[in-house]
Amino acid sequence: MTERGILAFSGGLDTSVVIKYLQEEYNMDVITVTVDVGQGDDQKKIEAKAKKLGVIKHYNIDARKEFVENFIFPSIKANALYQKKYCLATALARPLIAEKVLEIAKKEKVTALAHGCSGKGNDQVRFDITLRSGSDLPIIAPIRDKNLDRETELKFAKKHGIEIDSVAKRFSIDQNLWGRAIEGGVLEDPYNEPPEDAFIWVKTKNLPDKPTYMEIKFEKGIPVAIDGKVMEPIKLIEYVNKKAGDAGVGIVDHIEDRVVGIKSREVYETPGATCLIEAHADLEKMVHTKHENKFKSIIDDEWAYLAYSGLWQDPLKQDLDAFIQRSQRPVSGTVKLKLFKGSIRVVGRKSEYSLYSHKIATYGAESTFDQRLAKGFVELWGIQSTEAIKLQKKMSTKT
Ligand code: ARG
Repeated sequence: MTERGILAFSGGLDTSVVIKYLQEEYNMDVITVTVDVGQGDDQKKIEAKAKKLGVIKHYNIDARKEFVENFIFPSIKANALYQKKYCLATALARPLIAEKVLEIAKKEKVTALAHGCSGKGNDQVRFDITLRSGSDLPIIAPIRDKNLDRETELKFAKKHGIEIDSVAKRFSIDQNLWGRAIEGGVLEDPYNEPPEDAFIWVKTKNLPDKPTYMEIKFEKGIPVAIDGKVMEPIKLIEYVNKKAGDAGVGIVDHIEDRVVGIKSREVYETPGATCLIEAHADLEKMVHTKHENKFKSIIDDEWAYLAYSGLWQDPLKQDLDAFIQRSQRPVSGTVKLKLFKGSIRVVGRKSEYSLYSHKIATYGAESTFDQRLAKGFVELWGIQSTEAIKLQKKMSTKT
């Protein structure tokens, strides 16, 4: 019986090379699955490419709605930024893609699961762990298993007539509704400024001379309307990406610690994520107590760390989800952003659950807060610190 391998196929260099490897080196029939998470590729073209490479069957699955509702929205609720910078676009999509592959793997009774990840990145971790959580079939990853480098892959692709577009030759790109990651090539020198033509979503030239305002309305932590217009989840994300990208907002350039320990230079275009997370986090500060704010930022950090590290299904992540979900009950209101030549600033916020009280905060005569109460509070608040400092001073004069 011929072996049957299933592969998550993006149409890019790595996964194209993998099809040929599975066929030639592993003697397999290959079934490909392309999961649409908003990468904006022409699905027909990808299918044609897969067929041309000789796959026996190709599936195209539109998972955009699930991606937004079950992955992007929870990440907004968690203000999820890995190492305070990266909105996890690629990391969030991987478990979903792997789940879809597993669904079809069962239906098609395949004998092996394959992916196009290298042994250097995070995606192998995310794919392997999701696949392993749902199946005991062997996992084949030719790029990793054969220790292939990019030059070898490009040569192999040429030999097998695999077409590679010109951007893919210069960079390694991964994109979906939540962001676009650009790696490799000249960016591998962390001191090199990214060339302007690396950017597609965010304008870097001829930016508008007037600021762009954006009003984001949230309900229980989820963005539901922009500039007064209620929008479906997918449309909403697309709209914010476009509007913020046109204002030059959303480029992230940082050094990232990968799961496998390698430090990498990562460049992202994430206009929508930048705005939505900034706005959401700001609104939370208005409706949560200071204790909630302090604790939730620890939870948020851990959530982003787990999602980044391929532990999307881990029970701890589920526990954190439960906490975060409950915390979102008062996170309803509107945040006003001002975008100008690449900068972003929250310039207004309002909520029916606001804990901000004018009559308490004001310095004006209408204040209801009796300042005299503060004196005793400050005395007690600082008592241990003041005692300790006095003691330190005394001791240091002795020695
Ligand atoms: N560093 C990011 C992550 O691990 C993005 C990786 C994007 N992949 C790519 N081929 N450019 O999630």
